[in-house]
Amino acid sequence: NDPQAIIRQLLAWYDKHHRDLPWRTSPAAAARSRRPDPYHVWLSEVMLQQTTVQAVKPYFAKFLALWPTVKDLAAAPTEDVMAAWAGLGYYARARNLKKSAEAVAEEHDGVFPDTEDGLRKLPGIGDYTAAAVAAIAFDRQAPVMDGNVERVVSRLYAIDAPLPASKPAMKVRVRELTPEKRPGDFAQAMMDLGATICTPRRPACAICPIREHCLAFAEHDPERFPVKAAK
Ligand code: ADE
Repeated sequence: NDPQAIIRQLLAWYDKHHRDLPWRTSPAAAARSRRPDPYHVWLSEVMLQQTTVQAVKPYFAKFLALWPTVKDLAAAPTEDVMAAWAGLGYYARARNLKKSAEAVAEEHDGVFPDTEDGLRKLPGIGDYTAAAVAAIAFDRQAPVMDGNVERVVSRLYAIDAPLPASKPAMKVRVRELTPEKRPGDFAQAMMDLGATICTPRRPACAICPIREHCLAFAEHDPERFPVKAAK
């Protein structure tokens, strides 16, 4: 178990193979160490919960065209926001989106809080979104937990306890692993690895950048993880 090697190998892989997504910084912008726009990160992360990257892309573009800033979104009629959301599903997300936008506009003059705790106090922002925005937009060492990250970490450490009871232990592992430098890229690297290599079925261990550290790979049965509670 060598956290530094895991982090180094994962980030090197991400530098080469990261997906080019509209809400991420361009490599040139990253080189100038400019962070992505918190409004873009927040909007994309809310949309990406329960929806695939491919489905989100056109909606992300449409929302930014209609409402270029969080203040514009806060000022929009709720029915317009709901209409623009139509097709993405899970409509509670759109209502919460509008609520959070209003809070940022009215209570923070349109500037997103830059910590996980500050973000979590906004109405409509949960643990996942607060951690994702803190890490990706503000480079905070926040543990970003979603289904992809749970799968990667449960395999890496061969976590035998079943979901959902194992979630706190998984979060402890991710918290330990999250580096001081580039925590946002680390979070997105874990999500990309889970989406493209460490997949639920037939993971591509042969090309995984961290397989030498992976206990599930060593046991020859990565698909056993994450273990789920018997129904
Ligand atoms: N899924 C949700 N948010 C993501 C992100 N920022 N990068 C990759 N996959 C994601």
